[in-house]
Amino acid sequence: MLLRRLLLAVAALVTGTIWLWSSSSVVLFGGTYRIQDFVVNELWRTADSNGWRASSAPRTYWPPPPTESESSGYLRVRYNGGLTQQCSAICNAVVVARIMNATLVLPELDTNSFWHDESGFVNIYDVPHFIQTLKYDVRIVTSVPKITAPGKTKKLRAYKIDPPRDAPVTWYRTTALEMIRKYGAIYLTPFSHRLAEEIDDPELQRLRCRVNYHALQFKSNIRKTSSAIVNKLRSEGHFMSVHLRFELDMIAYAGCIDIFTPKEQKILLKYREEHFPKKPLVYRERRLIGKCPLTPEEVGLIIRAMGFDNTTRIYLASGKLFGGKRFLKPFKAMFPRLENHSMVGSGELEENTRGLAGSAVDYMVCLLSDVFMPTYDGPSNFANNLMGHRLYSGFRTTITPNRKALAPIFMDMEEGRASGYEERIRQVMFNTHFGAPHKRIHPESFYTNPWPECFCQMKARNHADRCPHNNVNDVLESQFQNKEDIVS
Ligand SMILES: *[C@@H]1O[C@H](CO)[C@@H](O)[C@H](O)[C@H]1NC(C)=O
Ligand SMILES: *[C@@H]1O[C@H](CO)[C@@H](O)[C@H](O)[C@H]1NC(C)=O
Ligand SMILES: *[C@@H]1O[C@H](CO)[C@@H](O)[C@H](O)[C@H]1NC(C)=O
Repeated sequence: MLLRRLLLAVAALVTGTIWLWSSSSVVLFGGTYRIQDFVVNELWRTADSNGWRASSAPRTYWPPPPTESESSGYLRVRYNGGLTQQCSAICNAVVVARIMNATLVLPELDTNSFWHDESGFVNIYDVPHFIQTLKYDVRIVTSVPKITAPGKTKKLRAYKIDPPRDAPVTWYRTTALEMIRKYGAIYLTPFSHRLAEEIDDPELQRLRCRVNYHALQFKSNIRKTSSAIVNKLRSEGHFMSVHLRFELDMIAYAGCIDIFTPKEQKILLKYREEHFPKKPLVYRERRLIGKCPLTPEEVGLIIRAMGFDNTTRIYLASGKLFGGKRFLKPFKAMFPRLENHSMVGSGELEENTRGLAGSAVDYMVCLLSDVFMPTYDGPSNFANNLMGHRLYSGFRTTITPNRKALAPIFMDMEEGRASGYEERIRQVMFNTHFGAPHKRIHPESFYTNPWPECFCQMKARNHADRCPHNNVNDVLESQFQNKEDIVS
């Protein structure tokens, strides 16, 4: 893909410039900025899809979900954590309900719940849209029903289960199914990472994508705020978004504290002690294996080395930066047009940009930006889900810095051995796929890369990759109607 981009670039260039293609990296001679500019301009476009397009409709027989009487019981799960953690828990919950023929109880709508529900589901997502979109997949109710025994009415009490981490589908088909049949309702808690990401059934993986990319739609106020920001940013051309994960919890978790003042280090160590298991952490070692989040300055150096100039508009998605302005300053000096939602938005936008809704707005802006660059990725991370979502929404360019490959370059720079570092950064950075279709290699998450399950080709050599017929919805609808008719 990169090769194609480069060939395009070459074809369009005037002669007299030497290009050299080596197996893994691009070496530039002559340093003409015109070439650099051209490559960079290519990045503003979406990546080459090679005939693939997003598709998560079923491709094989997909029976309608159980009716009330066929259902094996009620399923509740615990949603907690940040936006993305909740989002993958919802995707997994729908898949689990489908596996067990269970009825899914929506979070928080169950107002009489005796569990404290931490999710912001109803405040963030369009609930009617969610239910409607999944009607061929799972039966969804908004609360566990009351059961009437002679003389009294009470709520069905769900039996609590702590599923194994990354539980396989078979666990839900056996152990969990037995429980739900026995008790009538189960409550899975905790539920983060409680269903294996690799499932050997592409239809179930496609269901995950239907939930993630179609059913989970933000409420209209969030969508409005986000498009207002995007329109404002785009009014002057392309823009890039950067998810800057340089926050207290992440830095404490990564254990990369040497660059901070003694006072800041104390705060980080205290946070670490309170939240994470003890572990010896040597800054240099952590950094060399790519475990340290990029600093804002490093992010700036990367973007500049790639050839983006100082007029580039950059939207910063981030919580509170740890260490504050001191770290942002060098980045801002390289790229003066650095903005975040409180700077772009104003007035009414403000009220939609706090807490979980704020994350949702950042998510949407990053999703819609022309280029996206995450600075740290980890399980159940905002950036991880965005990378998958950007693939799904048409292979939008994503720049993923390889921190491990970049660390020695930055360390050389800091130690004064700084010759040709821009060139070295460029070699690392232009050696990735930029959000084009690519094979998922462990430990890459399904949520980061849902290819090929949630994509199809019109003229696929492999039958399983072939796009479903256009009438797939009609087929599902008629199956659904038939079943309703039989039942009623
Ligand atoms: C769920 O229902 C489908 C068809 O209605 C059936 O084929 C399947 O065996 C059921 N699965 C379980 C786990 O009960
Ligand atoms: C951007 O860089 C150019 C030179 O490369 C410089 O003349 C200009 O002042 C810079 N603009 C800003 C806003 O820093
Ligand atoms: C956005 O930028 C402004 C101005 O630099 C800053 O005061 C504010 O804290 C930033 N907000 C976020 C969420 O980063």
